[in-house]
Amino acid sequence: MNLYTRLINKDHPLPPDYVPENLTDIGIPFDAPCGDSKRLLEFRTAHAAFSLIQAAQKESLSITGVSGYRSYKRQQQLSAGNPYVAAPGTSEHQSGLALDVSCPSIQYQLIPEFAETPEGKWLARNASLYGFIIRYPANKEHITGIPWEPWHIRYVTRPLAGCLRLTGLTLEEYYTAFGAPLQNPEVKSNGYSQLKQGTYLIRLKCIIISQISLFVPTLILGPKSPTPEVTMLCIFPFFRYPHAFSHISLMVRFPGNNCPS
Ligand code: DAL
Ligand code: ZN
Repeated sequence: MNLYTRLINKDHPLPPDYVPENLTDIGIPFDAPCGDSKRLLEFRTAHAAFSLIQAAQKESLSITGVSGYRSYKRQQQLSAGNPYVAAPGTSEHQSGLALDVSCPSIQYQLIPEFAETPEGKWLARNASLYGFIIRYPANKEHITGIPWEPWHIRYVTRPLAGCLRLTGLTLEEYYTAFGAPLQNPEVKSNGYSQLKQGTYLIRLKCIIISQISLFVPTLILGPKSPTPEVTMLCIFPFFRYPHAFSHISLMVRFPGNNCPS
């Protein structure tokens, strides 16, 4: 499983002894003293966070780290009775891929008002350019299991972050649609489980007819041609941003038909 795109939640927890390799304090502005383990992030995540914060600084915005890596034990201490804190093992903070951020105008608090600050607005618009997603969006609590957290960003790599930003999908929805872990029963009920397992490359070209943009598949490569429904599944979300691309290439992984019954 890809470290960076891994789904971590209550159904897909990390082992209690999981500690990411290469935890790094890259020196981003942080509301915590040097030496505090909450300043640590997985190496590539740390570099991406550095670039993000530097880009915000160029626009005179002070995005500040509040909480990065948290051990299983630390998560255990924090989580008791707090809906904003995931149960131990189920937190992305244990992976070193998640970072909570805030800003001086709200005294570095992690509160919904962060979304209304210039820093929060900038983050929502630009995080995906640096490979991050706002992991727990508003109105998706029934899917993520976590209330809206405009301050919690998760590194998933730039391609996946861009895809999720454009489609508005959460990581849970992405996995359900395009490649849920085989043990997830939703895979069997979504109707695509009869497809051969594998990765498909689908290229969609944008054509403009009478000021209406349409995306048509021009290339489909994979272990077996997907059915038309699957092609539509890929096209549909991009209608929301029809002028953004002349063409789009998607790598889509289907879980196949080997789900346990
Ligand atoms: N605040 C998020 C849900 C966490 O504790 O991982
Ligand atoms: Zn968080």
